[in-house]
Formats: sequence, C-alpha cells, structure tokens
Amino acid sequence: MPTIRTETYKIEIDQELSKLNTYLHKQKPTKLFVIVDENTKQHCLPIFHEAIDYGYELLETVSGETNKSLDTCLNLWNQLVYNKADRDSMIINLGGGVIGDMGGFVAATFMRGIPFIQMPTTLLSQVDASVGGKLGVDFRGYKNLIGMFQNPALVWIHTPFLKTLDERELLSGFGEVVKHGLIQSKPLWERIKLKGTDLTTEQWSRVVTDSVKIKTKIVAEDPKEKGLRKILNFGHTIGHAVESYFLNSDKPLLHGEAIAKGMIVESYLAFKTKRISIIEMEEINSLLESIYNLPTLADKDIDELLTLMAMDKKNKGGQKLFALLNGIGGCDYDVALDNAIIREGLSF
Ligand SMILES: NC(=O)c1ccc[n+]([C@@H]2O[C@H](COP(=O)([O-])OP(=O)(O)OC[C@H]3O[C@@H](n4cnc5c(N)ncnc54)[C@H](O)[C@@H]3O)[C@@H](O)[C@H]2O)c1
Ligand SMILES: [Zn+2]
Repeated sequence: MPTIRTETYKIEIDQELSKLNTYLHKQKPTKLFVIVDENTKQHCLPIFHEAIDYGYELLETVSGETNKSLDTCLNLWNQLVYNKADRDSMIINLGGGVIGDMGGFVAATFMRGIPFIQMPTTLLSQVDASVGGKLGVDFRGYKNLIGMFQNPALVWIHTPFLKTLDERELLSGFGEVVKHGLIQSKPLWERIKLKGTDLTTEQWSRVVTDSVKIKTKIVAEDPKEKGLRKILNFGHTIGHAVESYFLNSDKPLLHGEAIAKGMIVESYLAFKTKRISIIEMEEINSLLESIYNLPTLADKDIDELLTLMAMDKKNKGGQKLFALLNGIGGCDYDVALDNAIIREGLSF
C-alpha cells in the first residue's frame, strides 16, 4: 500500500491500522487525544479503537461548518488543559475537513505547537483538506479567516471509512478528484470519465492515491500559494461565489457541488479563451452534469454572483483572476477576465 513522502511528513494510504498502533508506541506521546464529532464517533472511532491499544482521551465536538469556530477551539483548549496535556502530547484528528482544519489549528497553537496526525474520514478531506498544511477556523462569517500553515506529523488515510459516508458527501469530495485529474493528469481524468464514482474498494484506493499525489506535488513546489499552487483554484473563483450565494438559500450546495458548477463555467471560459477544444469542454460538462444536480442561474443570480466575486480574496487590483485549464491535464493561473465574458460563462 502506498506511502507518499513529503519533505517533512509521510502520507500513508490504506496501510494496516496495526502500523499506526506501532507508530504511536514508538512516538510515545505523554497523552494522546482523539478529536471526533458525533458521526465519526459512531462510524470511525470503533474501527480506530479496535486497532489501537495506546490509551487516549476522546475530545468530542459537534459536526457542521458552523462549529468550525473559535468557540469550539476554546472548548478543545480547555479540555487539553483539564487533561494536563503537555508539549509531548499528540492529537489525532479523526474526521472530515472541519475537524482536520480546526483540530490541526488547536494543536499547532497549543503550547506553540504540539504534534498532530490527520486521519481524514471524508473523501474531500482525504484528497484535499488533509494535505497541504492549511489550518484554521471560520470567523465572523468568513471562511478560514483565522488560521496558519503547519504540517502534521503524519497523514493516515484509511479509505474504508468512506463506506459510511453519505452519498452526497462522497460526490462532493469527488469534485476535487475531478479537479485534480483535469489540472494535472490526463490518465486520471480518462479513468474518472469512464467509471465516475462506481468504484471497488481497490479502485477507490487508487483514485485517492493518485489524487493525493497530485496535490502533494503541487504543494511541494509552492507551499505558500505564491504561484503554481493557484492551479488548485480551478473551478473555485466561480465555485466559491456560487457556494456563498446558495449558502442562505433553501437549497445550499456542498463545497464540491459548487466547485462542479464552477468547473463547468470555467471550462467554458477556457474554451472561449482558446485553451481547450469544444470537445474537451463538452466532455467535462457531460460528466459533471451526469453526476451532480446543479442549479441553473437566472440573470438576477448572475448579477449577485458578480458582486460576490468582486470581494474574492484571489482578486488583484480589482481584477477577477482565474485558474483556467490549458488542455486536459494542464492549467494556467492568474488569468484576468472581464465581466462580459464571465457573465457569458455564467449564463452558459
Ligand atoms: N485545509 C485545506 O486545505 C482544506 C481544503 C478543502 C476544504 N477544507 C475545509 O474542509 C471542510 C469541509 O470538509 P468535509 O467536506 O470533509 O466536511 P465535514 O468535515 O463537515 O464532514 C462532512 C460530514 O460527514 C460526517 N462524516 C465524516 N466522516 C464520516 C464517515 N466516515 N462516515 C459518516 N459520516 C462522516 C461529518 O460528521 C459531517 O457531518 C471545510 O471547512 C473546508 O473549509 C480545507
Ligand atoms: Zn475545493
């Protein structure tokens, strides 16, 4: 089973959990803490508990993006103090991206940083959030406003956790897999195009591995997002605006769903700027439309989306910037486009 090595830590994919047990006995943290929410407590903790005989304290949180907050961090820091955590203690984040981002932030700030292990349990966190060292919480309605970069001691990906994941959550994570294929790997894209999410356990393992390798390679070349890492924003300039816009509607979209819509619109923009062919654009659209149930946008939606996009942190000097595919498996970044063409893409 694959091990992916980065400069400072390893990412283990579908290794025997007994090896994690051995790792913990070797590291000998003075105290081990495992952060869960009610869903990962129910579905993932029993699998963890069965394999690990190192003693640990459970730190419980409540699921949901609204709990990715400083309030929850306060609670977690309190529990660490109450349980006499010290510099040689360790935290395992057993959950999706919410627990990974927040638990990592709690660990990285406690006593100026104690080691933590990312044990992602959703597809989105396995292929995206657990890799790349971005940690943090939401603040005053802004996503990930408070946070930092800090690498974990280890990332432990166990794809069988995906079996209990809600279908919609699985598809949401799949949006990032599609993105990784499109921006960096034609072979991954070709496989996805044929099979979608109808995969055996071994095939999931391979898709997750390929996807993680792509993200790891990009992050290694540009850890702080000064250049190349921006290609990971393909689908996200439009996608983030769509996600925010539908957030307070009666049909909020999951992140990967909004990104799927973003990838459709941005593929149109790549076609219009002569970066991909019409056949490539149609292939991308037909796969995404067959997987996701996406909203169509009326003129009034488009006006509001353009207003939202004007506030995007990726903009520079008032210009809206995009990562646009350049062929399948390649991507340009910092492409500035004017409102007229963006509007055309949104109504496409
Ligand atoms: N750090 C990064 O680079 C990065 C990248 C992408 C996204 N993110 C962050 O990730 C978060 C989204 O992550 P997510 O999509 O994993 O959502 P999530 O963490 O909210 O998990 C989704 C739901 O699935 C449940 N769940 C988790 N694992 C399960 C399992 N195995 N079986 C059954 N239920 C399970 C959770 O309790 C939750 O209700 C966002 O806050 C986003 O900002 C971070
Ligand atoms: Zn994303």
